[in-house]
Amino acid sequence: MGANVFTDDFDFENRIVDTVEIPSDALEGDNPLRPKTFEDYIGQEKAKENLKIYIEAAKLRGESLDHVLLYGPPGLGKTTLSNIIANELGVNIRITSGPAIEKPGDLAALLTNLNPGDVLFIDEIHRISRAVEEILYPSMEDFAIDIITGKGQMAASYHLPLPKFTLVGATTRAGQLSAPLRDRFGVILRLELYNHKELADIITRSAGILGIAIDEGGAMELASRSRGTPRIANRLLKRVRDFAQVVSNGIITCEVAKEALDRMEIDHLGLDQNDRRMLLAMIRNYGGGPVGLDTIAAAIGEEAVTIEDVYEPYLMQIGFLSRTPRGRCVTPLAYEHLGLPVPAACVQGCQPTLFDNN
Ligand code: ADE
Repeated sequence: MGANVFTDDFDFENRIVDTVEIPSDALEGDNPLRPKTFEDYIGQEKAKENLKIYIEAAKLRGESLDHVLLYGPPGLGKTTLSNIIANELGVNIRITSGPAIEKPGDLAALLTNLNPGDVLFIDEIHRISRAVEEILYPSMEDFAIDIITGKGQMAASYHLPLPKFTLVGATTRAGQLSAPLRDRFGVILRLELYNHKELADIITRSAGILGIAIDEGGAMELASRSRGTPRIANRLLKRVRDFAQVVSNGIITCEVAKEALDRMEIDHLGLDQNDRRMLLAMIRNYGGGPVGLDTIAAAIGEEAVTIEDVYEPYLMQIGFLSRTPRGRCVTPLAYEHLGLPVPAACVQGCQPTLFDNN
């Protein structure tokens, strides 16, 4: 565990284990670490195998691929996968996001500029407005939109056919999509957190591209602290490289990685001060739970959506947090990790239940 469990000076803006993409993740322009083909893409075997078959079938029939919805925590490669889909289909991709499409006209402009078979990627698709969603339905279903120009007696309606395109939508929160929108995706794939072996392979591949020397132990050590997330793994790799160059002989070994990550206060499970602070706030202020999401958010001064999208998936994956109908609970494993005695109530009162789907 990192040394300063009880300190309060956190830097939310520059959290190195944050899953949100920051400009330095992309390096210059086109990110060289991003795989361009399925062959180079490590992990997500189930999603990858399914997609390969659907793409092959669409190509055999000479049709556009069905619309695809990718969902899961941030940083797992949804944008990368959509680029690969377009690449494997041999078509162009247009990339936008839900909040960027402000008006129906913005979407109409995007759609009418597509070529047959092209991919339109909408990131954060759960954030599109209702008005935009209304014209997305006929676009996806009938490949046509109705545009109304003018007002009153001058109003005119045009039926505009569109090229057959593939919409790839990405979201961290599939539950927030309206049912009619969700139903219009023929392919719905959930991306999972990566295991240590997959992350070590990604780190080794990235190190090769960036010309960084790393051995197997170094890659495994970085992998085990990357919260199941390639974006974090690649970010840690770059920071540990700095460390290896300055204080060691430039090679990232297990020892070098350990020391660098300990200095960054990222513990052996990948938790940083923010994770520890959240768990400790739940323990100290609410007896370890059950406690509601909004209460936790207020207690640590963080947005509820950030807690849900960024903190929780990993803490739940490693069994440190459970969700019950009455709220979130810190588990005995987390108490042990933090070096705290496990209260009896935690063992008895905070078990996840069959209804644990909130
Ligand atoms: N870089 C980021 N994600 C990756 C992945 N899934 N496979 C290979 N390299 C990656």
